[in-house]
Amino acid sequence: MKTLFSGIQPSGELHLGNYLGAIRNWVDLQETYFCYLCIVDYHAITQSYEPKLMKQRVLEMATDVLACGVDPDKAVLFVQSHVPEHTELCWVFNAVAGFGDLSRMTQFKDKSARQPENVNVGVFDYPVLQAADILLYKAVAVPVGADQSQHLELTRRIARAFNHRFGKLFPEPDTVLSQTPKLLGLDGKAKMSKSLDNTLALAATDKQIRRSLARAATDPARVTREDKGDPDNCNLYTLHRFFSDEERQAWVRQGCTTADIGCVDCKNALADNVIDHLGDYRRRREDLLAHPEKVHDALQRGAEKARATARKTMEQVHKKLGLWA
Ligand code: TRP
Repeated sequence: MKTLFSGIQPSGELHLGNYLGAIRNWVDLQETYFCYLCIVDYHAITQSYEPKLMKQRVLEMATDVLACGVDPDKAVLFVQSHVPEHTELCWVFNAVAGFGDLSRMTQFKDKSARQPENVNVGVFDYPVLQAADILLYKAVAVPVGADQSQHLELTRRIARAFNHRFGKLFPEPDTVLSQTPKLLGLDGKAKMSKSLDNTLALAATDKQIRRSLARAATDPARVTREDKGDPDNCNLYTLHRFFSDEERQAWVRQGCTTADIGCVDCKNALADNVIDHLGDYRRRREDLLAHPEKVHDALQRGAEKARATARKTMEQVHKKLGLWA
């Protein structure tokens, strides 16, 4: 099996955007790859945050990832800070990463603009830690959204630079782009993101799901009930593509383009299907919330497995670098 690495920020509870964009794919990928799936808390500290809440955010994320169907007997699910070799390899990569390359990262520019009061060196170095995450396990496949393509290209450059200077050790990993078309937030304006408060949490109650969808933006050109709509220009139709069967999708397309159905009908049908789809997730989540030791146990076993591989790689790195070790 080929090795795959992916990371997710511990943003607390999962929302539909994380689920469709990442976790749903992880559940499939764990069947065909040897997967390292990492909750990246060391990345998260580069953003302004409340230390008292971090542990909770990590645990909620782990609980949700497991509830979605990531199986700790198949994939290695762990927390980044439990494996200190991530930061160790990051330092080594700092010695081969180009300052100019890092300065060109669009995410660095965006994040610096978003938190001008806290442009710390970690924000700048973020993609180098990401390269360390991936290469520590010599992963050859990395499933990420399109917004991470630049970081992946940098990872390959770092692998190449290290291999060139110290001798071949690391593969140049490929990006596995997720199949999910870009899902906007419920406001229909920006990417679904917790910080923008436009998400639908997976753990929402039926009532909350119905209420959030009822308020969600649809085709902006469809203003009145009589206007005909364009499903291809409707953020909610993107959701129908995932949650509704073909017959239901055809019903929406037909009804929307002829104004036979209104947005309310479309949203009700969507809410039914979302709720139905999340049934297994909810049952598993209830069980994990009642038995948090299952989550702790999974993370501990994950960290042990990850560390075993990480140590081996670091031994090889130390040799290549010609260090005392
Ligand atoms: N930067 C990624 C994000 O914000 C998270 C991440 C950290 C990651 N390390 C990674 C993703 C390694 C893939 C591989 O989504």
